[in-house]
Amino acid sequence: MVKACVFDAYGTLFDVHSAVARHAAAVGPAADAVSRMWRTKQLEYTWVRSLMRRHADFWECTVEALDFALEAHGLGNRPDLASLLLGAYRGLTPFPEVRGVLDALKASGVRLGILSNGTPEMLAAAVESAGLADLGMPLLSVEPLGVYKPDARVYRLALDAFDAEPGEISFQSSNAWDVAGARAFGLRAVWINRTGQPDEYGLRGEVTELPSLERLADAL
Ligand code: LAC
Repeated sequence: MVKACVFDAYGTLFDVHSAVARHAAAVGPAADAVSRMWRTKQLEYTWVRSLMRRHADFWECTVEALDFALEAHGLGNRPDLASLLLGAYRGLTPFPEVRGVLDALKASGVRLGILSNGTPEMLAAAVESAGLADLGMPLLSVEPLGVYKPDARVYRLALDAFDAEPGEISFQSSNAWDVAGARAFGLRAVWINRTGQPDEYGLRGEVTELPSLERLADAL
């Protein structure tokens, strides 16, 4: 019996590529490559910092990753671009099905939450700008722990927040490594494989895999 549905934020509820997409003309022909590198480096910095035990919050990782991606594409001399993109990152576009899916789950009596690397401020801004604040979801951030996903302590936050056993929490993420982390911890994990990625971490066949959140309620 699922007591709560807990969602990863970036890439799962919010489209991380919507920031660059919104300003693609200003970024120029390297827009897609910049966006991909920005995301890749942002995540790399979280893992490296966790392993080094030198925490810097997710906003700092995001800023440093963008600086790197712009510099790598010959756009390092464009601070105007950096501030434009960082502004957009605070209000990323939610995926189109998100609101409807969350409303239906809530109406069915399932509790909802977000569990993310994002700082509390980033998550509050994202939820507000996506028009999801009225759902009153607990925004569980790694920040008080000072360590990033997929450290097991992060997934434990969901148990404490919902006073639940691991098998009572369904955790949804579009990031395969995050799904693997949640599953290793013992949560029910659902892989929202939005971009049709090949199998990783032996997830396929072991966890529920969906192309979007659309049919999540049927899969619980
Ligand atoms: C998050 C990262 C994984 O929201 O996107 O936690």
